[in-house]
Order: sequence, then structure tokens, then C-alpha cells
Amino acid sequence: MANIIDGKQISAAIRAEIKEETLAFEKENGIRPGLAVIIVGEDPASQVYVRNKRRACDEVGFYSEAYELPASTTQEELNALVDKLNADPAIHGILCQLPLPKHLDENEVILRIDPKKDVDAFHPANVGRIMIGDYSFLPCTPAGVMALLQRSGIDVTGKECVVVGRSNIVGKPQAMLLLHANGTVTICHSRTKNLAEVCRRADILIAAIGKADFFTADMVKEGAVVIDVGMNRRADGKLTGDVDFASVAPKASYITPVPGGVGPMTITMLMKNTLTAAKDSVR
Ligand code: GUN
Repeated sequence: MANIIDGKQISAAIRAEIKEETLAFEKENGIRPGLAVIIVGEDPASQVYVRNKRRACDEVGFYSEAYELPASTTQEELNALVDKLNADPAIHGILCQLPLPKHLDENEVILRIDPKKDVDAFHPANVGRIMIGDYSFLPCTPAGVMALLQRSGIDVTGKECVVVGRSNIVGKPQAMLLLHANGTVTICHSRTKNLAEVCRRADILIAAIGKADFFTADMVKEGAVVIDVGMNRRADGKLTGDVDFASVAPKASYITPVPGGVGPMTITMLMKNTLTAAKDSVR
């Protein structure tokens, strides 16, 4: 049976460190890190994320603002809010919760957020910096995965890493971070031929395709590390990952559960990025 990587516990440890660093930073500079979260429309999942982000800010001692805008918000109104937050010295990080309602252009918002306040690391300037390995922020979910590996004592160097999923938010940056950590990286996606065969090569398998319980034991090598980035809702309302935990766990050496694996780390990394942004603002 695999070691279960406890994302809640690791996340709590990192938040305690961030809280301590925040106190020290505030004492020295008289600045409290500030995060603004924007949400447009009434997507219930997004509302839960935003509530959790606020709670995390309170926990680590940040200042936070939440903007809950109606679904009818226009691009001009959203742009104006981003401009206001870009200019606000009390705000060091701006996060606009995606997806946005269809009439709004996500790209336009991403481009408008000041790269220095882009704590999601979605702006092309930050994406480019990650590519060349010279960055301030890492995108929250892939950074959370790397922290889980590190704190579980899993060395990536020389390992076969298979990332399944090629989104801009997870798959692509995840592959880059594993590469920076000296992994041998393969990216798979919906058009990959012989997916199961490629997955079976993985020493470290990152599942990020958004299909409930998709990865079964026959797709996993004995002793592999399996990281489940999926967050899917089953018909019965229960939360489940991309990995069929029951069949895969006995075969893996390490595995992350859903919930309680990667999920809690994402917000923790957002806190880390916000603290970094505040520190960079006084450099
Ligand atoms: N929606 C789902 N995940 C994320 C994320 O990491 N950042 C933002 N802004 N929106 C999201």
C-alpha cells in the first residue's frame, strides 16, 4: 500500500512558515501583504474557492479584498477594477477567478494585471520567465505539486515524469517545473496514442485531465509516485480525482488523495506568491 501524501498537513506546515515570515516582514517594513480576489458571476465552485482564499489570507495575516461582481459585469467594468487594483499600494496580488462568463475575455484580463501583482503567474511575461527559469512566481497548482514532492522526500532528478494534461494552468507549467528539477518529462493529452503504455513508464505520474477516476491500476507502474490534480464531482455529489484511488493506491509507492492532496496546496502557494509580491515591492 502506498504512502498517502497528506496535503492538508504539508499545507498547514507551509502556512505556519508563511505566517511567521509575514510577521517578520511587516515588523521590518510596516507593510502587510494584500491580496485582491475578483469573481464574476455565481459559479458555486468558484465561490467556495474565493471563500477559502479569504480564510487562508486571515490565517497567514494578510490583508484581503474580495470583489464579487454580477454575471452582467462588462469588460470595461472589469478592466477598470483591474486598473484600480494595479494602482493600489495596499494590494500586492490580484487574482481573477477563472473561468469568466462567456462574454468576458479572459486573455484581456490576464494581460491587464500588472505582472508584478500576477500571483497566478498567468501573464505571458511571467510564463516566459518560468520557461527560462528566472521567476518570482510559480503557478499555484504546479508549485503545490512540487512542494508535495519535495516535502515527501521524493527526488525528481533523472526520473521518468509523465504529465497527463496540457492546460496553461497545470499541465504545461507542471512539465516545465519537473524539467527544472531534472526530470525526464513527457506530456500526454487527449490525442496521445497508447496513453496507458506511456503512463506505465512513469516513475512520477501527474494526472491532470479532469476525468473522474480515469487512471486505473493497469496504467501505473509498480512503485510509481502518483499525483492526482483532478477535482471532479461524481454523480452522487462526492468529490473525486482523476485517479481511481482504490485500485491504484496498492500499486503506488506514494499517492495523493482527493480531497486532501493537491487541493489545499494550491491556495497555500497563492499565499506564498502574495508574500513574494509584497517583498518584491520593497526591493
Ligand atoms: N480557476 C481554477 N483554478 C484557478 C487558479 O489557479 N487561478 C484562477 N485565477 N482561477 C482558477
